[in-house]
Amino acid sequence: MTPVFVLTNHKGGVGKSTSATNIAYGISQMLAQFGVANHRVLLIDTDSQGHATLVTTSRNDFGREDSLYTVLNADRKDATTILKQCIVASEWDANLHVLPASPLLEAAERELIAVPGAPYRLSEPLSQIASHYAAVVIDTRPSFSLLTEMSLIAATDALIPIEPRYLETVGLESVVNKIESIRQGWRCPDLKVGGIVVTKLDKRMKGHVEMLDGLKAHPVLGRLLCGVIPANEAVAYAHHAHKSVYEYNPECPASQAYAVLAAQLIKKTMVIRGGA
Ligand SMILES: Nc1ncnc2c1ncn2[C@@H]1O[C@H](COP(=O)(O)OP(=O)(O)O)[C@@H](O)[C@H]1O
Ligand SMILES: [Mg+2]
Repeated sequence: MTPVFVLTNHKGGVGKSTSATNIAYGISQMLAQFGVANHRVLLIDTDSQGHATLVTTSRNDFGREDSLYTVLNADRKDATTILKQCIVASEWDANLHVLPASPLLEAAERELIAVPGAPYRLSEPLSQIASHYAAVVIDTRPSFSLLTEMSLIAATDALIPIEPRYLETVGLESVVNKIESIRQGWRCPDLKVGGIVVTKLDKRMKGHVEMLDGLKAHPVLGRLLCGVIPANEAVAYAHHAHKSVYEYNPECPASQAYAVLAAQLIKKTMVIRGGA
């Protein structure tokens, strides 16, 4: 079964898009290094702001005919075909594909709310093509809106990026509970909390270190911690250059941390057969 990772947190600016794009690229690159024949990864951008789309394709003009918006509005019988048509290759690598966001997704939230079966409009067509990919990674908007619910319903592993600040951890349990309620309420037995990713950690800041130690010691959340990404200005420069952080600077601390995280996600979710 193809793992479908969703980066989610109802807060903005916590590193969802940075993590989604670099995890997607990292998984594809690492599988290629392991000699896995199918190392294609699909990145789905569900945020109307389209940051993941912009940095990976250098475009922000996807719309009515060529984006996730098109898929969500398609007749159900055509949705899989339209999904395939809307997927584009990223500029980062031919094996990193992107289902682009559009500013129109903002309106889609309102337009779809009364449509029966709306929450399944992403998961249904995606389930028809997911096996073409080694992994799927979904970036979400900073809220538990309909589009985020659709993303969670389509996912197997929810990854929660958080910044190392006190109030972030306070909100964390509610994020975990929300994922659990989607799993039960929408009957998605495959969905689980795949892990918590602490982003922008600055070891020189006492508060950051204390927060990380507190998280590690927490009986439930501590076991969910799956990655720590240091604060690193290379991330901002990489965004500006529309590059992955690995390509921008493979040696920088954020690249190394994302590589460790990608390797761990592969190990946890995939059976690797060399040359398969
Ligand atoms: N590890 C990091 N170090 C430094 N800056 C980062 C790091 N991760 C993300 N950022 C910066 O934080 C901001 C928000 O990141 P982003 O991934 O867009 O968050 P979200 O998608 O949750 O809103 C961006 O300006 C990004 O460049
Ligand atoms: Mg974002």
